[in-house]
Amino acid sequence: MYKILLKEDLVPNIHLLKIEAPAIAAKAQPGQFVVLRVDEPGERVPMTIADWDEEEGSITIVFVEVGTTTRKLESLMAGDLITNLVGPLGLPTHIEKLGTIVCVGGCYGIASIMPIARAMNEAGNKVISVIEARSKNLLFWEDKLRSVSDQLIITTGDGSYAAKGWIPERIKELVGGGNKVDLMIAVGCTYMMMLCAETTKPFGIKTIVHLNPIMVDGTGMCGCCRVSVGGATKFACVDGPEFDGHLVDWDLLIARQGAYLSKELYSLQMWECQNWNKH
Ligand SMILES: Cc1cc2nc3c(=O)[nH]c(=O)nc-3n(C[C@H](O)[C@H](O)[C@H](O)COP(=O)(O)OP(=O)(O)OC[C@H]3O[C@@H](n4cnc5c(N)ncnc54)[C@H](O)[C@@H]3O)c2cc1C
Ligand code: FES
Repeated sequence: MYKILLKEDLVPNIHLLKIEAPAIAAKAQPGQFVVLRVDEPGERVPMTIADWDEEEGSITIVFVEVGTTTRKLESLMAGDLITNLVGPLGLPTHIEKLGTIVCVGGCYGIASIMPIARAMNEAGNKVISVIEARSKNLLFWEDKLRSVSDQLIITTGDGSYAAKGWIPERIKELVGGGNKVDLMIAVGCTYMMMLCAETTKPFGIKTIVHLNPIMVDGTGMCGCCRVSVGGATKFACVDGPEFDGHLVDWDLLIARQGAYLSKELYSLQMWECQNWNKH
């Protein structure tokens, strides 16, 4: 069992949990994830390690409420226990000095990109971070990202804070404006990552994306996280989650992500009916 040390509501639908997990904290590297099960009957879900503290023996995850498991996670408080936690999983981000790195984060990806931006910064790169949210009240970790970036570009869909619009527009301005970019790394929702890859392709900028297909075991055994990259079949949990965004078969990924949508909706409705009076 894994104890929750801290629960923080970052914005209305995105939450942070700091979990006691010394063995994972001792080995975590940027870009890696854990697979957790909230309770005995629960499903296994992958979550990126958004931060870790080896001395305290803790890891931090940041998650958006989308279905049953993330609703269950949201209901937990400091002192509560999580049944299973496995990690760190996946290949870590390759950190090296390349020049200028654009680190992109949307939704939970704002947190996931932070350790990558930090490590790239420590490696001597110029880090330009670009983050987005629908509205100002859905932005978080602005200061944290600013502290590990040479430049932070913020964009909101409704224009309530900083620039108005979405990440691909900001990328277009950045690279179209003649800035030399050596690598872009994007984490967040699939659609945003796909658009980022489409935007950088004509400019020939290598673009790494963090794929988030449905996962079960997280160790390459079940085949659930199968993706197609450059015509080759890959398992995101062991070959990724980072892949070359210009080679990803996005249509296949999006189709496979939606394969259980009706069951996920049914599961959420059942859970809400059973727990309507508890929250
Ligand atoms: C490597 C990796 C890292 C991730 N990191 C984060 C993170 O840091 N924060 C965060 O909020 N989300 C992250 N996700 C996505 C997260 O795992 C799903 O949002 C979560 O599993 C949804 O579970 P649910 O029961 O709440 O929703 P469900 O009702 O099960 O599903 C809602 C949506 O989530 C997707 N999903 C469902 N089950 C899984 C699964 N087992 N694996 C992946 N996607 C699934 C479905 O495509 C669906 O669109 C990550 C996914 C991967 C693969
Ligand atoms: S999650 Fe089972 S093979 Fe990747």
